[in-house]
Amino acid sequence: MHATFDKSRELFKRAEQTIAGGVNSGIRKLEQPVPIYFEKGSGPRVWDVDGNETIDYQLGQGALLYGHAPEGLADAISAQAKLGIHWAAQCELEIEVAERITSMIPSVELVRFNNCATESVMAAFRLVRATTGRTKILRFEGHYHGWGDEGLTGFANPTSTWDDPEHPASVHPSKGVIPEVMEHFVVARWNDPEHLRRLVDEHKGELAAIIFEPAVCNTCCIEPVEGLMSTIRELCDRDGMMMISDETITGFRFGASCAQGYYGFTPDLTILGKAIGGGTPFAALCGTKKSMAKIISGEAIHAGTLNANPLCLAASKWCLDEIISRGDSHPAGTIALGKRLMAGLSEIAVKNGIPIRPQGPGLAFHSVILKDGAAEGPINDYRDYATRHDAARWGHIRLMLLEEGVRAIERGLWSLSTTHTNKEIDDTLARAEIAFARHAAEYQPAV
Ligand SMILES: Cc1ncc(COP(=O)(O)O)c(C=O)c1O
Repeated sequence: MHATFDKSRELFKRAEQTIAGGVNSGIRKLEQPVPIYFEKGSGPRVWDVDGNETIDYQLGQGALLYGHAPEGLADAISAQAKLGIHWAAQCELEIEVAERITSMIPSVELVRFNNCATESVMAAFRLVRATTGRTKILRFEGHYHGWGDEGLTGFANPTSTWDDPEHPASVHPSKGVIPEVMEHFVVARWNDPEHLRRLVDEHKGELAAIIFEPAVCNTCCIEPVEGLMSTIRELCDRDGMMMISDETITGFRFGASCAQGYYGFTPDLTILGKAIGGGTPFAALCGTKKSMAKIISGEAIHAGTLNANPLCLAASKWCLDEIISRGDSHPAGTIALGKRLMAGLSEIAVKNGIPIRPQGPGLAFHSVILKDGAAEGPINDYRDYATRHDAARWGHIRLMLLEEGVRAIERGLWSLSTTHTNKEIDDTLARAEIAFARHAAEYQPAV
């Protein structure tokens, strides 16, 4: 019996009457066959209103590193709720959380909390401009830095803008953005240190910062090539730019010291989101004392009514203690499970003639589906991905997986939680056997 989604369809129709577009974040509309309505979750599994039980690799867009509704986290939030839900003032908890973060991530001496990573990116951009007196920021194609006017500039450049590979366009996918915003971004291709060096040289003295996702989880889980991180560090030091590591996805997922510890680099500023709050609306801008100076002095304004909300702080303290208590077993255990899943999916795909090439470090990975005739080998950057990955075919495979009870992120990313075990991997592979066979029998590429 495949899963059906009749009740979700009914609720979505009802939602469209009162919620603009029926959803509260545009990306949720990508879910096929319909945005799903959930009732409860436990560890690595979720149940929707149609009674479907699903092994979850979407995990609240990666925020649920500790799985769904961990008991300790729920207790921490409810205990805090009874003491106070919101003060817009200080509490000892905020120091306790900050102390944990600074003890876990060597580059971080100071933090400021926000409600989402989009806000922390906004704060970082203001801070680097206030610090350097320059306005331009260098970013990479395919890297996502939130949905703000600035963070989204040059994210997924349409192929019509690809004519000059040396100078990727600074365009925005949304209407309603002031055109001048785009002039303040220099867009580079990822994973080409010499190209980066040339672009930085062209803009010498103009750039306030270089921002990046250390493993490009939002586009194909593309890890940095050898020498890229050291090149970014070297160029930032040479030209007085600040290095911003956007660890919204990789933060704590890649270990207690985040992707910067995993790959071995030292940024000036770090953005944390998702796993820092275990599914509560919590994020942080973190950095060295020197790089946070303009926030300390108040020259770069940072504010927010709900910043450091006690419910989120209680959640975050629990999450960080979880990571600390796991010691060296995290992320090694999750990596091993993820790699087993990647290998298992590849094996089943071969049997069914599906060119799936899972890519990534295991604790998150992307299911690349090669287009007919596309070259083999790892995907290296956003253009390579857009050229070789068959998004339409992945869409069908994802639907088949969902109908068999396995949910990956719509665009192809899979995230594991610390609650996934070999049992979930076994169950997932058994379900993938059916899903992949159905795909092989049913899929008709559009002509
Ligand atoms: C790397 C990265 N930066 C920033 C953001 C924005 O985070 P939020 O949705 O919490 O605003 C995201 C969200 O997915 C992200 O993946």
